[in-house]
Amino acid sequence: MTRRILFVCLGNICRSPTAEAVFRDLLEREAPGLTVEADSAGTHAYHIGSAPDARTVAAALNRGIDMSQLRARIVEEADFERFDLLLAMDEQNYRHLVRMAPPERRDRVRLFLEFAPEQGRREVPDPYYGGATGFEDVLDLVEEAARGLLAALAASG
Ligand code: 4NP
Repeated sequence: MTRRILFVCLGNICRSPTAEAVFRDLLEREAPGLTVEADSAGTHAYHIGSAPDARTVAAALNRGIDMSQLRARIVEEADFERFDLLLAMDEQNYRHLVRMAPPERRDRVRLFLEFAPEQGRREVPDPYYGGATGFEDVLDLVEEAARGLLAALAASG
């Protein structure tokens, strides 16, 4: 059975495309037999069609992850049908998705960091207006939650 995961942040140029790329890379390397499709989207339209932020691309490349081909898109109504899980990077995006979701699909919306409980954090902080450490922090959190997500998917067959 194919599982479909949508990672969601505000602009779809920093956090959620990082999560998409890191998760895909992990899946390929560690669980190639698991059929999981990953995509990402933003709750706001600012950057539709744009490549990921250059700082994000550089930080990911430094860890061997190529994000350069990804392009930003906005979350659509159909995503609540198409994806089994919509994983928000922070509380603001979580609330946006819950408001947007058809009532019978609200349980598909979760916080991504639920899959990294040992971090004791709920949000992947928005790195857009900060310095370089913000992008490293995003990668650290995303790598850990991607591992947790993969383990949960593997455990559920
Ligand atoms: P993201 O980061 O939600 O992780 O893609 C941001 C990107 C753009 C903006 C804010 C956050 N912006 O305000 O344009």
